[in-house]
Amino acid sequence: MAVLLPGGAGFIGSHTAIELLQEGKEIIIIDNFSNSTPQVLQAIKKITGKDCKFYEMDYLNKEMLEKVFVENKIEAVMNFAGYKAVGESVQKPIEYYTNNVSGALVLLDIMRKYNVKKFIFSSSATVYGDPQEIPITEETTIGGTTNPYGTTKLYIEQILKDIYKSDNTWDICILRYFNPVGAHSSGLIGENPQGLPNNLMPYVVRVASGELKELSVFGNDYNTPDGTGVRDYIHVVDLAKGHIKALDKLDKESQGLFIYNLGTGKGYSVLDMVKAFEKSTGKKVPYKIAPRRAGDIAICYANPTKAESELHWIAEKSLEDMCRDSWNYIKFRNFTK
Ligand code: UFG
Repeated sequence: MAVLLPGGAGFIGSHTAIELLQEGKEIIIIDNFSNSTPQVLQAIKKITGKDCKFYEMDYLNKEMLEKVFVENKIEAVMNFAGYKAVGESVQKPIEYYTNNVSGALVLLDIMRKYNVKKFIFSSSATVYGDPQEIPITEETTIGGTTNPYGTTKLYIEQILKDIYKSDNTWDICILRYFNPVGAHSSGLIGENPQGLPNNLMPYVVRVASGELKELSVFGNDYNTPDGTGVRDYIHVVDLAKGHIKALDKLDKESQGLFIYNLGTGKGYSVLDMVKAFEKSTGKKVPYKIAPRRAGDIAICYANPTKAESELHWIAEKSLEDMCRDSWNYIKFRNFTK
């Protein structure tokens, strides 16, 4: 029995694929390489020493997707095939709603047809909008998303709740990621956004490598200790391990819909991140203070205790690990270009 990973060649999908293979699970990846490359699959094999089945396809292609379910014995699905760039989603709402929401519906419909009812969904802290309380628990009010990307996550969560209400033989786990950063310690896989990075860590590494001149710190007049935005950065390998624990829970305790925050519970400011990066890598990160970015919130960090008590999962990697591994990945790419 295999675990199916749509989007399994992407940033979070590929790290989760490694953890699953290392746990002895059989996996099947489907990906259209819209935001990844075939080299990621080679890297997964190199790191784990294991093969996995792969289909190059769009998960919206119902006929091809159905073929995957006919050809394989699938026990669970982890969906990593969503588009994830906040700014791009504002420019391309139709593409975002189609890929993320319609894609999820196609997948869930085929799963139902083949009676595969274990689903782990990549949600996001973005569903809390401008959070009404800090730290954020799973009970914190959701809604008030400020961009189509965030709204797709909110809609899919609602769709999953409605599916479970209609048929409680589903086992669904919604994982709300905070800010994933870092890379595999091998340096072989990591985050490699095309064009100018939107997120803080990929921007910082490119400044450190000299590819970009300086970081713009978006606002230093927030109500935070140093005035810059505070987030809960979590190492992608910790996040990947959270999926293994979620699958364990669905395997052991069948039938339920569960929601967990996957964060560290610690908030770091933009300037904390710059300092931590410089300290752990020895590289300088020149920066300037720039105006606030539209749609940004001041503070966002998790209360991760529900995941700790129910999934027996806790983020173990430090800020230093996140910075070192992000840098190690970029260094490796630059040397091997
Ligand atoms: N920032 C800068 N300069 C940059 C980039 C970011 O100062 O060049 C700041 C932002 O203003 C913010 C912090 O760094 O204060 C983090 O910004 P990111 O863009 O890295 O992350 P966000 O918190 O804005 O968004 C991320 C993901 C979303 C997800 C959200 C959940 O990109 O997909 O976390 O909280 F929805």
